[in-house]
Amino acid sequence: MADRKILVLSGPNLNLLGTREPEVYGSQTLADIGKLLEQRGAALGFAVESRQSNHEGALVDWLHEAQASGCHAVLLNAGAYTHTSIALLDAIRAIKVPVIEVHLSNPHTREEYRHKSYVGMAAKGTICGFGANSYLLALEAAALL
Ligand code: DQA
Repeated sequence: MADRKILVLSGPNLNLLGTREPEVYGSQTLADIGKLLEQRGAALGFAVESRQSNHEGALVDWLHEAQASGCHAVLLNAGAYTHTSIALLDAIRAIKVPVIEVHLSNPHTREEYRHKSYVGMAAKGTICGFGANSYLLALEAAALL
């Protein structure tokens, strides 16, 4: 059932999780996180599908697809596009599916250019700063919607 599906979208450079700046992003890979999300999702009664792309347009397309297929919610870690992408902001506004913004790190404690979030301007809510657990906490929040 599509309405029991939660889509998890990760943006640029997140395919390198595990080896990318582990002091900032931790040592778990995106595949590790995907497995944890799938398991927790199943316990909550949701099918969780995780996808990653380094391309802004792919993330836009997947947001549209989430709407077309009737997903329950989307968890979105847009990586650096968070801070630059009006296209993602517009896409989130264009769909009715709630989008939860996720970050492993807390961008507000980092460089000033990470303080602005276009995704956050349209997201239902934001969870950041808890490492891989940010994704799991966002899943819990999504299940409550
Ligand atoms: C990030 C934070 C962004 O500022 C950064 O560009 C990333 C990862 C995070 O998960 O902490 O790529 O989204």
